[in-house]
Amino acid sequence: MEIKLKHFRAIRWFHWINFPLLALMIWSGLMIYWAYPVYGIGPIRFFPDWFYSALHLDQRLADGMALHFVLMWLFVLNGIAYVAYTFLSGEWRFLVPRTAKTFRDAWHVFLHDLRIKKELPPQGKYNAAQQVAYSAIILMGVGSVITGFAIYKPAQLTWLAALCGGYTMARLLHFLLTIGYVLFFVIHVVQVTLAGWNNFRAMVSGYEVVNRRD
Ligand code: HEM
Repeated sequence: MEIKLKHFRAIRWFHWINFPLLALMIWSGLMIYWAYPVYGIGPIRFFPDWFYSALHLDQRLADGMALHFVLMWLFVLNGIAYVAYTFLSGEWRFLVPRTAKTFRDAWHVFLHDLRIKKELPPQGKYNAAQQVAYSAIILMGVGSVITGFAIYKPAQLTWLAALCGGYTMARLLHFLLTIGYVLFFVIHVVQVTLAGWNNFRAMVSGYEVVNRRD
């Protein structure tokens, strides 16, 4: 048995800072979306009334905006720092899908997770499905920032809103990306639970226990 470094300290900090930050971004975002019915997405009311009162979401447009627009800077800075560090440290090599094969392998991992396929494709630090998911979540982060700025300053940043397909489309995309985070989060936590303690502990302490085969 051997104890090996798996995740650098910086990556762990960026990862764990992102978790409460994103939770607060979603919470304050819901405050904005559901402050008044006019701010909702069409006629859709996603949750039952108790959900709004349990999370103190009703009629809090000012609170929501204040929190959202302060925290988004931290979200942006943390994201830039994470991406920059990933590139400078060379960690991006484990994360970014580089060939079409990665997408085929990701599909195999998916079928394997559904117990449809028996064997797993060979993998490095992350399997192909993780590479696709982790790269996608970074792109989604970029998407949230772009669509967010487009609806934050639609008068000054008309070009950005136009790039997103107009104000209404930017707002819809911003909302859909949030749903994407929630789905990612649910799957991510299920996978982390299935992967076990050693894997989770490595994201906290940095180190994993590996069985030596020599
Ligand atoms: C309770 C919440 C969370 C838990 C328990 C958790 C756990 C983990 C663990 C254990 C890993 C390492 C996977 C491995 O080594 O195989 C990981 C990696 C990762 N997680 Fe999470 N995570 C959480 C929330 C999030 C959130 C909210 C996001 C982003 C929206 C996220 C994005 C990522 C990314 C991008 C990686 C790859 C990091 C890298 O190596 O650069 N996680 N997570």
